[in-house]
Amino acid sequence: MCGIVAYIGEKNCVPILLEGLQRLEYRGYDSAGLALVKDGELGVYKKAGKVAELVRSLDSMNGTLESTLGMGHTRWATHGEPNDVNAHPHWDNSKEIAVIHNGIIENYQAIKTKLLQDGHTFSTATDTEVLAHLIGAMYEKVGDLCSAVRLALSEVDGTYGIVVLSKRHPDRIIAARKGSPIILGVGEGENFVASDAAAIVDHTRQVVYLEDGEVAELTREGFRTMTIDDVRTEKVIEEITFDISQIERGGYEHFMLKEINEQPETIRDAMRGRLLVDEGDVMLGGLQHVMGRLLSARRIIISACGTSWHAGLVGEYIFEQIAKIPTEVEYASEFRYRNPLVNIDDVLFVISQSGETADTLAAMREAKRKGATALGIVNVVGSTIARESDGGVYVHAGPEIGVASTKAFTSQLTVISLIALMLARQRGMTKEDGVALARELESLPEKARQLLKNTEMIKAIAEEFKNAKNFLYLGRGANFPVALEGALKLKEISYIHAEGYPAAEMKHGPIALIDENMPVVFVVPKDAIYEKVISNLEEVRARRGRIIAVANEDDHEIEGLAEFVIRVPRTYGFFGPILNVIPLQLLSYYMAVARGTDVDQPRNLAKSVTVE
Ligand code: AGP
Repeated sequence: MCGIVAYIGEKNCVPILLEGLQRLEYRGYDSAGLALVKDGELGVYKKAGKVAELVRSLDSMNGTLESTLGMGHTRWATHGEPNDVNAHPHWDNSKEIAVIHNGIIENYQAIKTKLLQDGHTFSTATDTEVLAHLIGAMYEKVGDLCSAVRLALSEVDGTYGIVVLSKRHPDRIIAARKGSPIILGVGEGENFVASDAAAIVDHTRQVVYLEDGEVAELTREGFRTMTIDDVRTEKVIEEITFDISQIERGGYEHFMLKEINEQPETIRDAMRGRLLVDEGDVMLGGLQHVMGRLLSARRIIISACGTSWHAGLVGEYIFEQIAKIPTEVEYASEFRYRNPLVNIDDVLFVISQSGETADTLAAMREAKRKGATALGIVNVVGSTIARESDGGVYVHAGPEIGVASTKAFTSQLTVISLIALMLARQRGMTKEDGVALARELESLPEKARQLLKNTEMIKAIAEEFKNAKNFLYLGRGANFPVALEGALKLKEISYIHAEGYPAAEMKHGPIALIDENMPVVFVVPKDAIYEKVISNLEEVRARRGRIIAVANEDDHEIEGLAEFVIRVPRTYGFFGPILNVIPLQLLSYYMAVARGTDVDQPRNLAKSVTVE
């Protein structure tokens, strides 16, 4: 949701912090701020709007800001509207301590009431300011910053990723996490804290991932970690694998367009070192130790949110048709609260690009509590879901900066296909059948590359319909979730209302919407139910709906039926969504560009929803 970056060392940290915040802005943004400790003073500078607004306000100040100890924050509001006052950092009552925070303090009202009774005065509506005051109150009691943070956090319910500075302690940073990621960056004579490695990868690749319930104290010389109860913990220093060029836009106008065009490579990367084509088999190291549980599973449950939930819906077709394992899909936000009938015989796959989505993490924890084996299909290495799962598979899509998920989705589908093929071969699929599927999977990156060359038709469609008020997306079978995903993409970046629906279901109500003003996108590959979808398409034509078809290259019948045809290469039905979604990603992108919306950071959205 929000972005955190902090520095302690010998350099002027202001440019380091501002650049780090700009790298994190996609994670959540409606205000930003810095806190700097220098010469016994604690300066706080914060501004509503994007990081650029903060930079402008700092530039307008007299003299240049300098400090060797500081922290920065970009905020996505959860309590209190986005404005200068509610922006982080927040002071304690004494204005000697500053706090930045990702997450939600659920019992902040009760804490605030007690602090008010103790004479504290507050200037904001935020839960974070209450936490800052609580830390300050504890500091007054114990006189040690790290102890004060631990004592305060022991009274807190909710989630947090925090960094704390004090003007009385120019030699240290305190950080802590519970439910919101915190990474320590280890340097030479300098150390960092961040909510995402992207903020510090320019300065160090040596990182330490804090676990929930851990607190860290960093100095210029090093760091130590402990639990809330002051029990020392030992940490492993790990290496960041991606480089900064993967984060930069690479010449594309938007991160989203770059990531759509990366898909031939990212689909290939999802299979790299895992797909054994000549054996018609798959090797997934992260699942070997749970293979017995997987093969004996009564059923597979998939739980996720948003685009990842759509990947789960496709996964149901893939697991049942390839691995022959009963599979059901659940919204994570529903699953976590409905006391699901889950037990040791079940395997839960949670799908998450960020690996930090609160509802998905909670769904996984609930399934584990009930004895199920919980496995992650995750993009961000070292993320909470990845580390708390019983195993899983990284999708290796690289950093996905655009808030609208694209390459992560097709990589999720690719990984699901690998898992299904691996299970199918373990459950008796012949080598010959396995080789056929493996070869088709191996052909997908090139098919995606070919598909991405033909964007002129998609740009023309976007220009034609950029002022549409509504869109309907229709598909059947494994392409019904593709219709849902196409609709979500359009909604979230162009702000046009769009609905995905099973093609046959359209006549049970939504057909009332069809007239000459309603663009209807059909995902209609030449598969076993092609004729059925054509019947649905005819029903729309009969009511003068404007038809856009995503159809195979060798489908000539469609020319006479649809006003616009976007061509996609043929593949097996259950692999089709990996290709069929790409034109819909591009359509939503060009519609958004035509409408002038903020493609990479759409209004109201955040890249990782780490709150309920
Ligand atoms: C997708 O375009 C959206 N940004 C959103 O629905 C996202 O898929 C959802 O929040 C789940 O995120 P996750 O994959 O990181 O868990």
